[in-house]
Amino acid sequence: MTTKRKLHIRTYGCQMNVYDSARMADVLAPLGYAPTEALDEADMILINTCHIREKAAEKLFSDLGRLRLLKNDRAKDGGRLVIGVAGCVAQAEGEEILARAPFVDLVLGPQTYHRLPEMIARLARGDGPVLDTEFPPEPKFDHLPESTAARAVSAFLSVQEGCDKFCTFCVVPYTRGAEFSRPAAAVLAEAQRLVAAGAREITLLGQNVNAYHGEAVDGEAWGLGRLIQALAELPGIARLRYTTSHPRDMSEELIEAHRDVEKLMPFVHLPVQSGSDKMLLAMNRGHSVDDYRRIIDQLRAARPDIALSSDFIIGFPGESDADFAATLALVREIGFAQAFSFKYSKRPGTPGAAMRGQIAEDVKSERLQILQELLGEQQRRFNETCAGRVLPVLFEKPGRHPGQLVGRSPYLQWVHARAPSRCQGSVLPVRITVIGPNSLAGETETLAEAVA
Ligand code: 5AD
Ligand code: SF4
Repeated sequence: MTTKRKLHIRTYGCQMNVYDSARMADVLAPLGYAPTEALDEADMILINTCHIREKAAEKLFSDLGRLRLLKNDRAKDGGRLVIGVAGCVAQAEGEEILARAPFVDLVLGPQTYHRLPEMIARLARGDGPVLDTEFPPEPKFDHLPESTAARAVSAFLSVQEGCDKFCTFCVVPYTRGAEFSRPAAAVLAEAQRLVAAGAREITLLGQNVNAYHGEAVDGEAWGLGRLIQALAELPGIARLRYTTSHPRDMSEELIEAHRDVEKLMPFVHLPVQSGSDKMLLAMNRGHSVDDYRRIIDQLRAARPDIALSSDFIIGFPGESDADFAATLALVREIGFAQAFSFKYSKRPGTPGAAMRGQIAEDVKSERLQILQELLGEQQRRFNETCAGRVLPVLFEKPGRHPGQLVGRSPYLQWVHARAPSRCQGSVLPVRITVIGPNSLAGETETLAEAVA
């Protein structure tokens, strides 16, 4: 019999971290740890960190400061609170975390969380804090228990990790390590389990998901397009998505999947970062602005209703007014349904941090504001084009009001509509009547026929 303990995981960053947190909960479940939302009833608190965001380390130390007080209070009552730091900040700054916050018990990187039980055993021996931020030779996926957490209609499935591209602004190749693809059979098996647990939509995850080249049973390496074709054939799957991609890995096969696989949603997040060839070169992106244009043309030819999303970095070293103007021009030319934009911020150890021509903070802020206004306007315009249209919505959960459900359109917009709760997990046609700032609302059509 295992004693009942409570585990609280706070997750920052991308969907990859959301997935990792769920898997850490899976690893700890056999040790008797049940998840809790409440900090003060937790016996173990894990912070799963993200290194992409600005001031990630400072934010972590301020979180840890608060947890220290909780730990001290607990000790006064004779109790024990285990504090762990996981994820990319732990990977990059593990030693510093233990030096600055010696009350932290566990520090683990994204590649070692399958070894959590071992780390907890070491901790129990009383040898002091445990640091494990290696890149172990055995891939963690081979050592993780089957996922149990997913009861959600929309689930994440990690198919690829790490990155070999070394964009000069990015820490991922250092924190997540070399590119690694899971074998196709393992991905298909996990997808089947997710569907059996109620998932209707699966989002394939990877830092460079379209670099996927997993080994298949036939001994061949499958690309992402082939994997998507195979997943679409699993009974029960209604929708497939993938994120996040790199323009260089947008293969013909993947573009064809957008043409041929109805279940692959017509929405692609394809970061371009800048609309200037000079900046793309400085960022070591390995493609030109024209290459990006060509890919967008091919995607639109394959799936005319495709909507696009992107990431932009403003104020990378050397960015002139003309480079910034080229980014604005590209945004106007392509038209994005949604996008993320960031001011460049230095990541220690990356080439960008040491480059000459760093841009002043006020210039970055001014440019970012101009870009965000343009992107915001494009997003509003895109949402407005949905007014009056009938969009298929996969209902995921109860809405704000009784009798309402909320789900996603093909373009990832949240849509509220009146529908009975038995429609959770179903795709229903919804006529869009209201365009709100953060979500849409509408009325379900032909409810009786549509509910399978
Ligand atoms: N500064 C600003 N933005 C960054 N990103 C990654 N590294 C940095 C950095 N050092 C952004 C990129 C990437 C997204 C996930 O985060 O746009 O696509
Ligand atoms: Fe980072 Fe570039 Fe790799 Fe994306 S492709 S994870 S931005 S190094």
